[in-house]
Amino acid sequence: MDICNSVAEIRKTVARYRAAGETVGLVTTMGALHAGHLALMKAARQNHDRVVATIFVNPTQFGEVADLAHYPSDDARDISLLKGEQVDALFLPEVDTIYPPGDETIVETTELANALHGKVRPGHFRGVATVVARLFNIALPDAAYFGEKDYQQLQVIRRMAHDLHFPLEVHGVPTVREADGLAMSSRNVRLGPQDRRAAVILNQALDEAEQLAKTGISVEDLGTALRTRIKTEPRAILRAVDIVEAQTLSPARGPIERTLAIMLSAEFGSVLLIDQREVSP
Ligand code: PAF
Repeated sequence: MDICNSVAEIRKTVARYRAAGETVGLVTTMGALHAGHLALMKAARQNHDRVVATIFVNPTQFGEVADLAHYPSDDARDISLLKGEQVDALFLPEVDTIYPPGDETIVETTELANALHGKVRPGHFRGVATVVARLFNIALPDAAYFGEKDYQQLQVIRRMAHDLHFPLEVHGVPTVREADGLAMSSRNVRLGPQDRRAAVILNQALDEAEQLAKTGISVEDLGTALRTRIKTEPRAILRAVDIVEAQTLSPARGPIERTLAIMLSAEFGSVLLIDQREVSP
């Protein structure tokens, strides 16, 4: 696996693949890799000759300095996982490489970034759109792969790539779950044992909601059912239950007549977890 730290190195590597007529799938990560990330690598591998991964803990998407400082990081472990997936090249830049001194350019999807989770994490999706646009421009892939678990992030990136005419496809990959149903996330390692057990409530509530959505229930009653179910777990501090139109993320109302997305966020101890599910009548 080629490990590139500079923009020039990764561009040269990708140019070499292209010169050989090969296509490139990109998977951007912040490290702390788990099976969810590896599913993205596998999806990229299925569709492309070459897979390029990035590891960059992006400071501009963290609201709280403490959250950034506590973000888990183990490059040696991540590199060995990437090699196990036969990833061809890794871009592992320093902060100054992505945000050069004097940097002042931001990218923001103004509506999508400030709805839903964006309301509780101001600036987060601006940071995501800004770094992903830079990584797209640096790596110049044919396609990029993102988890559906981060549903709003996926829609923000789709919108940004479309609006800025990036010549690449953005693919969503289904959420990978632990054996008990908890969505895989780099944050899960920060859960204490009791919170880890409690966090499974999110998937349980979503499973039930998926069935309820087929019974003719209204969006409003489905929201109430979800809230009631999650509140049965005393360790869950519910932050948001949003039932939205799948593409625009605008609030859904009334009878469920088409595919909608449920987006949940809840805190367990000091760890904010999110999960999502598309539901159909
Ligand atoms: O999902 C993530 O890991 C990050 O938000 C991303 C897309 C790599 C941008 O920093």
